[in-house]
Amino acid sequence: MRKQLVAGNWKMNKTLDEALILVSEVVNMVNDEAKGDVKVVLCPPDLYLATLARYLEPITQMALGAQNCHQKASGAYTGEVSAPMLKSVGVEYVILGHSERRQYFAETDQQLAEKVDVVLENGLKPIFCCGESLEQRNGNDFIAFVCSQLTAGLFHLSAGQFADVVIAYEPIWAIGTGLTASSQQAQDMHAALRQHLAGQYGEAVAENTTILYGGSCNEKNAPELFACPDVDGGLIGGASLKSREFVNIVKSF
Ligand code: PGA
Repeated sequence: MRKQLVAGNWKMNKTLDEALILVSEVVNMVNDEAKGDVKVVLCPPDLYLATLARYLEPITQMALGAQNCHQKASGAYTGEVSAPMLKSVGVEYVILGHSERRQYFAETDQQLAEKVDVVLENGLKPIFCCGESLEQRNGNDFIAFVCSQLTAGLFHLSAGQFADVVIAYEPIWAIGTGLTASSQQAQDMHAALRQHLAGQYGEAVAENTTILYGGSCNEKNAPELFACPDVDGGLIGGASLKSREFVNIVKSF
């Protein structure tokens, strides 16, 4: 049985005081209301990770994630944060290859493959993002394009390493736009990605890999998206900044 997971990507939002309020509200609601078998991951800005780790550590259902890390483990890279540093403050997951990182910070497939390696080598779990632009969606080969992102970023891994990999399908045209992929569009892509995994690693790995949907996922559309057989949860941006809505999404399975 693959893991169901909902991750909140706070992006570059919240002051420390606001972050403390949000995390304590989410922790209380998850404790009181959420089904125990859904993993809940919060991905705040790096600056708050060490502080927020203390809130999440006692709750086995919850974990801390980072939004990025550098591809080298240490060194003269001013302003960057490494996988060993993230591990040392209690981080468990790292979002890699978010379309905002690919677009605004020019992250390449090669860099992402290196980031995946350094994350896994340090005992962390990548949440590897993929997804097509609107232009690609309107063309013919958007499924092949998204599959090629997995090939480039992940397919150098062994089948054993894949046990710690989470994939997030996030169509760029749906991120922060209010446009959500329909549940059929999400299911079709997730099934295609799972088939692509099966082709490389076999059915067992494909069946066991958690594939999240992301892109304007909210408390209204989450139940239908999460009911799709190949959608195993969500990577939530805007709606993760509101405790009530985020926990309602967690409860949508
Ligand atoms: P959104 O962002 O939910 O605000 O569309 C999702 C994401 O970028 O991870």
